[in-house]
Amino acid sequence: MRQLSLSDCLSLSIQCAEEAGNLILKANDQAKIAQMKSSSSDFATATDKACEELIVTKIKNSYPEHHIIGEESTALGTEITLTDSPTWIIDPIDGTTNFVHGFPFVAVCIGFSVKREIKVGVVYNPILKHLYFAKEGSGAYLNSTRLQASSCTDLSRSLLVSEWSYDRRRDHLACAQANFTNFLMHPCHGIRSTGSSALDLCLVAEGSVDGSWIFGLNIWDYAAASIIVKEANGVVMDVTGGPVDFLAKRVVAAGTRELALALCEKLVETPV
Ligand code: IPD
Ligand code: CA
Ligand code: CA
Repeated sequence: MRQLSLSDCLSLSIQCAEEAGNLILKANDQAKIAQMKSSSSDFATATDKACEELIVTKIKNSYPEHHIIGEESTALGTEITLTDSPTWIIDPIDGTTNFVHGFPFVAVCIGFSVKREIKVGVVYNPILKHLYFAKEGSGAYLNSTRLQASSCTDLSRSLLVSEWSYDRRRDHLACAQANFTNFLMHPCHGIRSTGSSALDLCLVAEGSVDGSWIFGLNIWDYAAASIIVKEANGVVMDVTGGPVDFLAKRVVAAGTRELALALCEKLVETPV
């Protein structure tokens, strides 16, 4: 087996993300047929599927022995496991609801893990031409600009970003509402939502927002972006304050550890 080069994995991820981005751009001004998945706001379009197919084919051509976890090829309800084997984690379009409506926050996400650690991450918004990428130990970039997360440690001076869950059950919405209310009343400076968890985390990496918490995620929603935050000297963690857990369906991120812990302390956990 040939030696694994993370630089080669990053180049392949960028190539795949840009080619998938072209498919998104081609479809962007056409009417989209959205197929409902887990809830009335969880969709997949033919473009989600075409992008994933393109990315999976390219990865299999280069690394036939690697594992792949792709959102659209994972059947609903399947339990996801992350093993020590080299694994590619793909969200062909993060922000499908945005894509369907023409709201310009959509991203192709490709993460690559070895021994359960994310080593490479690419998050590409083809509409805004924002290519975020990172490789372990080499910093994080937006196009050619190196990223540095915010130095804010004080919740009352922070701008946050979060998402309402796709899960529209009353108890889930009540928890989400409690979290938004608690932070607004703390008070923080404000809370934004882009409709793409991956792009939310990239906003933390670039320092446009100071912190984020997001519940109800799948591994493909935050794997790629998590290394972009870390390599921008930011912090990603679980709501317990421990290491981020890609199977726990939730993440807290911030420019500083102090702010991330302050977020964890105030969060009401969403019911499973
Ligand atoms: C969704 C987005 C959204 C988040 C959902 C995700 P999708 O991904 O990241 O911001 O709140 O939990 O499922 O369905 O657009 O790939
Ligand atoms: Ca997603
Ligand atoms: Ca998706």
